[in-house]
Amino acid sequence: MNQNLCLFILIFLLSEAPAFAVDFYYQNCSVPITCGRQKISYPFYIQGRQQDFCGYPGFQLSCQGGADDDEEEAYPLLRLSGGDYIIHNISYESQTLVVSNALLSHYLDNSSCANLSLIHNLTIPNEQFKLAPKQDQFFLLYNCNPSFVDSFPKYKIGCNNTSVLALPGQIYPKFGGLVEVEKCGSSEVAVVHGGGYGNDEAAGMKEVLGRGFEMKWLAADCSRCQGSGGLCGFNYTTRHFRCLCPNRTHSVRCKKDDEGYSCLVAKIGLVNYNSMCIQ
Ligand SMILES: *[C@@H]1O[C@H](CO)[C@@H](O)[C@H](O)[C@H]1NC(C)=O
Ligand SMILES: *[C@@H]1O[C@H](CO)[C@@H](O)[C@H](O)[C@H]1NC(C)=O
Ligand SMILES: *[C@@H]1O[C@H](CO)[C@@H](O)[C@H](O)[C@H]1NC(C)=O
Ligand SMILES: *[C@@H]1O[C@H](CO)[C@@H](O)[C@H](O)[C@H]1NC(C)=O
Ligand SMILES: *[C@@H]1O[C@H](CO)[C@@H](O)[C@H](O)[C@H]1NC(C)=O
Ligand SMILES: *[C@@H]1O[C@H](CO)[C@@H](O)[C@H](O)[C@H]1NC(C)=O
Ligand SMILES: *[C@@H]1O[C@H](CO)[C@@H](O)[C@H](O)[C@H]1NC(C)=O
Ligand SMILES: *[C@@H]1O[C@H](CO)[C@@H](O)[C@H](O)[C@H]1NC(C)=O
Ligand SMILES: *[C@@H]1O[C@H](CO)[C@@H](O)[C@H](O)[C@H]1NC(C)=O
Repeated sequence: MNQNLCLFILIFLLSEAPAFAVDFYYQNCSVPITCGRQKISYPFYIQGRQQDFCGYPGFQLSCQGGADDDEEEAYPLLRLSGGDYIIHNISYESQTLVVSNALLSHYLDNSSCANLSLIHNLTIPNEQFKLAPKQDQFFLLYNCNPSFVDSFPKYKIGCNNTSVLALPGQIYPKFGGLVEVEKCGSSEVAVVHGGGYGNDEAAGMKEVLGRGFEMKWLAADCSRCQGSGGLCGFNYTTRHFRCLCPNRTHSVRCKKDDEGYSCLVAKIGLVNYNSMCIQ
């Protein structure tokens, strides 16, 4: 009996061993996260709901809207210098995302009299993102003389007291010399994705503005890590990309543990190789 019990305990311990060995970071980041209908994964992470090591620096999002009973209506929000941008779609394959200015979107969605003059110049943090090619520029002129604005109904958006002229990039130069434009005080730049306004005038300014614009992201590539069964992440202590694997984290991709073992031996023998092995 005792022998059998010992054997049982031994088998129990052996079979349980791998479960105990699952790496904390891997486990912590392996829970699928969605915001509304959008799947959120590396390089993005939702601040507050996920640990920062599951994502890449500068890719933290918040999840907005969607009451408790209406999770589907939630949407991810990205903060770019001075403005909030609603994420419409993330393509992990092409490493692109489509976003639009939140103030503009709310105005377009529910005709709220948003103060469109609070829309900031679009400044893309170029360590994380770059504008995709073939995007159209728009200039927003606000605080202009109301009668000047009213004389261009085609380009007028906003409410009476917060009205703005949204001028496509190719039309803006024609306004450049006008005294009234100089009086508008400040002008803003927005960028719009798709089609080219020129072909789309029938669609109307609001519809065109509502499309948002496309950006490409520039985080460390995840494909080799993912292909080896890992999850991508980041170590904020060492400031390095990490491949979070079921057994432990690696620098680029998951490896068989015996490789890790020989590396460990090398580490003991040659202290200088330390970082090569552990990274
Ligand atoms: C991830 O780690 C944090 C902090 O230790 C913990 O609060 C959270 O519950 C963990 N999440 C998962 C899915 O393990
Ligand atoms: C989002 O992107 C994916 C991948 O590119 C695409 O298949 C899908 O149609 C897009 N969805 C929307 C709503 O644009
Ligand atoms: C417009 O919609 C947005 C998001 O749906 C919401 O945050 C905002 O409060 C709404 N504004 C008004 C005036 O309803
Ligand atoms: C806005 O102005 C137009 C004409 O200037 C007027 O017809 C309309 O009633 C005004 N709307 C509001 C909400 O004040
Ligand atoms: C601007 O107009 C909207 C409705 O047209 C009104 O709700 C808002 O209070 C007005 N704002 C100011 C500052 O007058
Ligand atoms: C919109 O915001 C600007 C800048 O804060 C402010 O000067 C202006 O009075 C606001 N307009 C309205 C109608 O609220
Ligand atoms: C936006 O950029 C334009 C051109 O660089 C500049 O003239 C304008 O003052 C900027 N507006 C704000 C609010 O910073
Ligand atoms: C980051 O690196 C430090 C030092 O090597 C280590 O103690 C820590 O566990 C690592 N964290 C992650 C998230 O990899
Ligand atoms: C993970 O560790 C277990 C036992 O420690 C080992 O059998 C397995 O091959 C390792 N897996 C990888 C991918 O290294």
